[in-house]
Amino acid sequence: TVLVVDFGAQYAQLIARRVRECHVFSEIVPSTMPAAEMLARRPKAIILSGGPASVYERGAPAAPEGLFELGVPTFGICYGHQVMARALGGTVENSDVAEFGGATLSVTSPGMLFAGLPNAQPVWMSHRDHVSRAPSGFTVTASTDVTPVAGMEDRERGFFSVQFHPEVLHTEHGMEVLRRFLYEGAGCRPNWTMVNIADESIEAVREQVGPKRVICALSGGVDSAVAAALVQRAIGDQLTCVFVDHGLLRKGEPEQVEKDFVAATGVNLRVVDARDRFLKALDGVSDPEEKRKIIGREFIRVFEAAAREITKGGSGGSAGPSPQSGAPDAPEPVEFLVQGTLYPDVVESGGGTGAANIKSHHNVGGLPDDLQFTLVEPLRNLFKDEVRALGEQLGLPSEIVWRQPFPGPGLGIRIIGAVTGDRLDILRDADAIAREELTAAGLDRDVWQFPVVLLADVRSVGVQGDSRTYGHPIVLRPVTSEDAMTADWARLPYALLQRISTRITNEVREVNRVTVDITSKPPGTIEWE
Ligand code: XMP
Repeated sequence: TVLVVDFGAQYAQLIARRVRECHVFSEIVPSTMPAAEMLARRPKAIILSGGPASVYERGAPAAPEGLFELGVPTFGICYGHQVMARALGGTVENSDVAEFGGATLSVTSPGMLFAGLPNAQPVWMSHRDHVSRAPSGFTVTASTDVTPVAGMEDRERGFFSVQFHPEVLHTEHGMEVLRRFLYEGAGCRPNWTMVNIADESIEAVREQVGPKRVICALSGGVDSAVAAALVQRAIGDQLTCVFVDHGLLRKGEPEQVEKDFVAATGVNLRVVDARDRFLKALDGVSDPEEKRKIIGREFIRVFEAAAREITKGGSGGSAGPSPQSGAPDAPEPVEFLVQGTLYPDVVESGGGTGAANIKSHHNVGGLPDDLQFTLVEPLRNLFKDEVRALGEQLGLPSEIVWRQPFPGPGLGIRIIGAVTGDRLDILRDADAIAREELTAAGLDRDVWQFPVVLLADVRSVGVQGDSRTYGHPIVLRPVTSEDAMTADWARLPYALLQRISTRITNEVREVNRVTVDITSKPPGTIEWE
């Protein structure tokens, strides 16, 4: 493993992902972790990340005591470069001029990191302090107009560092520099591949659950689908998946889970048709938080009931068809619950375990921790793009693997106003048109998410075929984003917007107006509720 020491969250995750793109496994650890604990993980290399602090500030994070005596090859980036310089006897100074954005790096002595690369190369900088003198034993390898020591290395001791950010795309040869450190500087081998990830995870699941029975709540989303497919591959019929159809899904989604997913995986699936129950519980409710609470609560009840049924080995769900119900008849209790927790959730919650760490957002499909199950979290080491690649490796249909993120409460929070069956039908039709046209335009992977929202409590006047209409507006909310924490509105081509607008107003009854939301996040959120 390669340990990425975190001096400031956002940088560390990107570095860890880039290391994995070099097919080397990486983990993020806090800069407060004692060096001995790091050594216990037997790292092949250590990378010190960037961070927002200044090394001389009071309370600024420093390298763990003894880190540079571990004998592990170490690569400092940005703040990590300064930490390394300072710890080993170099000098870090505050500059008058900051260096933010693009800069030209001049390679003065190529060393190992820059051998064979151009002498002048574009790099991405983001710093105010700089290293003005390298520690003894180091060779200065590169500089810029304002940064005298922009790269340095002590090959003998296995120390390398750069002031710029090799992990960002604007640094043209960044990946090459990173690869050199990993392969040549640290002797890492590129064996973190999807085939190995799948094999290792399958083995780990088998080891964890033994002959015991396992259940999984399928939401139709990417994470639970990939987690379930993986566990199915590992333990076959010991797994039963439960899919709660709460009636708040988009057009075609229940079928996708019931048919395509089952066809691709052969999983035991129990479908619980709880549409009426959810509609009844939501009757007359328009407050967004109240909707969320109700949906979350009902979901848990329905899921628990299904879990009890499965444990009893009975065949009847709470309601509805369960054509694939293949739970074995042995009344052995279910001990494990599969969760699609991803690595960023694990990192953000300080590396702990368990459902308690899942963002309160993910309250639907993410179950409360007082459920009496031990969690199986086969994706907890993976980033989203790795989960998608794993899904493809496991043979899941690309419509499932490449689905946009979809909120647990579903269309329930995309109807502004109370949720009714009619309103759901209207929204489902409008949403289906928007998605269809986006796909037809080949832009699926260019947008992060494309909520379509029905302003059910708003009416406006229109005219259609010579007569006055008084209908509801639909809001299109296509956004681009990296991680849903921030987002921008997607600049969809006018021709596409026009097609969607024309089709929705022509084909969906009750809708006579289509608008586009052009708010970024912040200040808006992605969803309207
Ligand atoms: P916002 O609207 O806060 O959404 O910008 C950020 C991301 O989270 C999704 N989202 C939810 N997911 N339960 C969920 O499981 C929720 O209650 C919920 N609300 C928002 C949203 O779709 C976006 O991807």
